[in-house]
Amino acid sequence: MNLNLTEEQLAVRDAARDFAQNVLKPGVIERDKDQRFPAEEVKQLGELGFMGMMVNPKYGGSGMDTVSYVLAMEEISKVDASTSVCMSVNNSLVCYGLQEFGTEAQKEKFLVPLASGQKIGAFCLSEPEAGSDATSQRTTAVDMGDHYLLNGTKNWITNGNSASTYLVIAQTNPEKGHRGINALIVERDMPGFQIGAKEDKLGIRGSDTHTLMFQDVKVPKENRLGEDGFGFKFAMKTLSGGRIGIAAQALGIASGAMELAIAYSKERKAFGKEIHKHQGIAFKLADMATQIEAARLLTLKSAALKDAGENYDLASSMAKLYASEVAMKQTVEAVQVHGGYGYVKEYHVERLMRDAKITQIYEGTSEVQKIVISRSLLAD
Ligand code: CAA
Repeated sequence: MNLNLTEEQLAVRDAARDFAQNVLKPGVIERDKDQRFPAEEVKQLGELGFMGMMVNPKYGGSGMDTVSYVLAMEEISKVDASTSVCMSVNNSLVCYGLQEFGTEAQKEKFLVPLASGQKIGAFCLSEPEAGSDATSQRTTAVDMGDHYLLNGTKNWITNGNSASTYLVIAQTNPEKGHRGINALIVERDMPGFQIGAKEDKLGIRGSDTHTLMFQDVKVPKENRLGEDGFGFKFAMKTLSGGRIGIAAQALGIASGAMELAIAYSKERKAFGKEIHKHQGIAFKLADMATQIEAARLLTLKSAALKDAGENYDLASSMAKLYASEVAMKQTVEAVQVHGGYGYVKEYHVERLMRDAKITQIYEGTSEVQKIVISRSLLAD
């Protein structure tokens, strides 16, 4: 296995790092405090080609590989996970879904503005009573001949109020179970579509997470993705790649916290020496570095499998499961290294610790990843 990054991949990583450190970092504490969506910053990310990284240039994307996407996600997430979740949903759920399963007309109309960063997309699967159990969709899309009539409520939708294009999963034929589900492209200005309350969250407070309501929304048939009944498989296939993005996000949150902990341990003195010279701190840093490197390798492996056109369902679930657990554990440790300073906003680590928790929940909880992994192990 070749573990060397190409010149091009290194350049992408450096550009993302520059952007994160110079553009995102200055306002990140305020945005978190005020729950302010990074609209201007996301626009700039689009101009840099980071909102449609893996999309073919003929549809407005950057034509990069998934490994580059992981490198960019890690650097952005070291500083601002609210921005990186917007980037991740747009890239690996919405753009991927449209590029892979959309018609030529859908790609021209919806993918081009999303991949070039002029518009933002959202992925709408979760419902009040359908989170991990994603087949239990209550939102309905009744077939009316030339259109679907969409009714229902979606919860915890990332980019809920900043998106223009929404991929909505809904049940058309309940008697067919998961084979009766469709994925529809819904536009923000369709009559009957309403953006509901914004969630007041523990972490990723700069991302706008909303409830969405659909009341008799007429969605033209040409807005369906794939064949009739393909919606659940569409969601599963799309989420499988999405989990690489969230693994990279978790990796970034953990490595951002480690960079801060290392820097602080070299500055802060206690008992007559810098605290990294105390074995209690040095051992914490060694554990952090080892676990983060393991998470990085799992994440890059899943990205490399995707780039090679091989199956990555198992690898992406393992990467997401492990990286999110490392992020949670090691951000807590990074706060501990900082002592009292770690508990205040100015030092950034408390935000990373709050942001880490969501990586164990969205795009499939840790328990969902264990279902995917164990089923793969135990399959005949
Ligand atoms: N690729 C293709 N098909 C797949 C698939 C995949 N990766 N995974 C499952 N399928 C297919 C199965 O083959 C099966 O089809 P057939 O019956 O035709 O063979 C069908 O889908 C149903 O599969 P299961 O029986 O495995 O389904 P299940 O009900 O047991 O659920 C699950 C499995 C893994 C728990 C799934 O429901 C799941 O992933 N749940 C979590 C959903 C999730 O991640 N939600 C996140 C919301 S989006 C989000 O968070 C975005 C954001 O804002 C950040």
